Amino acid sequence: MSLLFSPFRLGGLELPNRLVVPPMCQYRAIEGSAQPWHLVQIGSLALSGAGLVIMEATAVEDIGRITHHCLSLYNDAHEAALTDLVAKLRTVAPRCAFGIQLAHAGRKASRDRHWNKRLQIPVNEGGWETVGPSPIAFGAGWAPPRALDEAGLARVREAFVDAAKRADRCGFDHIEIHAAHGYLLSAFLSPIANERTDRYGASREGRMRFPLEVFTAIREVWPTTKAFGVRINATEFDERGTQIEDAVVLARELDKIGVDYVALSAGNAVPGRPHPPLVRGYQVGYSEQVRKESGAVTMAVGMILDAFQAEEILASGKADLIAIGRAFLDNPRWGWHAANLLGAPDVYPKPHVSARPELWPGYAMLHPDYAASRS
Ligand SMILES: Cc1cc2nc3c(=O)[nH]c(=O)nc-3n(C[C@H](O)[C@H](O)[C@H](O)COP(=O)(O)O)c2cc1C
Repeated sequence: MSLLFSPFRLGGLELPNRLVVPPMCQYRAIEGSAQPWHLVQIGSLALSGAGLVIMEATAVEDIGRITHHCLSLYNDAHEAALTDLVAKLRTVAPRCAFGIQLAHAGRKASRDRHWNKRLQIPVNEGGWETVGPSPIAFGAGWAPPRALDEAGLARVREAFVDAAKRADRCGFDHIEIHAAHGYLLSAFLSPIANERTDRYGASREGRMRFPLEVFTAIREVWPTTKAFGVRINATEFDERGTQIEDAVVLARELDKIGVDYVALSAGNAVPGRPHPPLVRGYQVGYSEQVRKESGAVTMAVGMILDAFQAEEILASGKADLIAIGRAFLDNPRWGWHAANLLGAPDVYPKPHVSARPELWPGYAMLHPDYAASRS
C-alpha cells in the first residue's frame, strides 16, 4: 500500500492522499482578480492526482503584492472571482482539495515580474512604498521599507484575518500563510531584517511575536473543519539569519496555537547569498528535523522528483506531506505516473481512464520505468 496515495487527515480536512501541489506565483491576475489562466492552470494540476492543490501567494492588502499582477484577496471583486473559480474547480476535480496561500510581500514588494529582469519598481515609475519590521532595504537596488508602527501592525493583522474569512467564503478547504522567503512575516522572524527594539524584535521571542499574533488571530476565524498551515524558512543560508533551531522553536509554537502543519522551505531572504546545491530533496532534512524535534506535522518541498523518493520520505518519517512544484509544471500528470509506479489505486479522472496502463499497451512503451517496475 503506497503511503503517498493513502488518505491523510490534515486538521479537519480528509485528504484523499498526501501529494500536494505547492503555491506557485503566476503573475497573471488583473487588478488582483483570478483570470481564465488560473482556471486552466489550477484545473490542470487538480487533474494530476494530487490530493491538495494550493493556489499561489495571494496578497492580503495592496502594498503586500509582489507585483501589479499578483493574485489578491482584499476586496469584493477578488472574492467574487475566486468564489467562481473554486466552484468551477470543484466540478472539474471533485476529489481534490483546494487551498490558497495568503501573503504579504513586505520589503520585497513593488517589483517587476521575475521574467523581466528589473528588480524593484520605484514609486515614481508606478511602484509603491513598502513596509517591513525595520527600515532596512532587502539589498542593493531596493528601497528601505517604512517600519510598521502599532497602527500598521494592527492593519496588517486585520488584513490577514479578513483575507482568511474571504478565503473561507470562497469555498477553499485550506489556507497556508506565507512566512518564508523574506516576505513580511518572514522578515519579522529574521535578525537580518528585524532590528526593532520594541516587543516585536530584540530576541527570538520578540521577533516571533507579530507572526504568532497573526497566526493566532487567523486560527480564531478559520474553521477547524478545514486545514490551516504555515510555510516557514528552515534557514536563511546566512550566519546572521534564522537557523534550523529557530524553525524548531517556531514549529512548537505553531503546534501550540493549533496550526495543522508546517511547510519547510528555505532561503530567498538575503539577495546574492550562495545557495546550497539544488540536489534531490535538498530541504527534506529540515522537514525531518523539525518533525522529530517539534512533533509538528510537516510538509516537505524542494526537488522531490520521483515517486519512490516521495514514498521513501514518508516511509522513513521525514515528512507527513509531499509537495511537488516544478516537477508538476514539467508534467501535470506526475501523480498519475507516480500512482502507476507505486501500484496505488486509480487517480485518473474518468474521461482519461483509457490512457491507463491496464487498458493501453502504449503506456508501457512510453514509460520504460513503469515497464521495468512490472517485470
Ligand atoms: C514558478 C514558481 C512560483 C513560486 N511561487 C511560490 C509562492 O507563491 N509561494 C511560495 O511559498 N513558494 C513559491 N514557490 C516555491 C515552490 O512552492 C517550491 O517551494 C519550490 O519550487 C521548490 O519545490 P520544487 O523543487 O518541487 O519546485 C514558487 C516556485 C516556482 C517554481
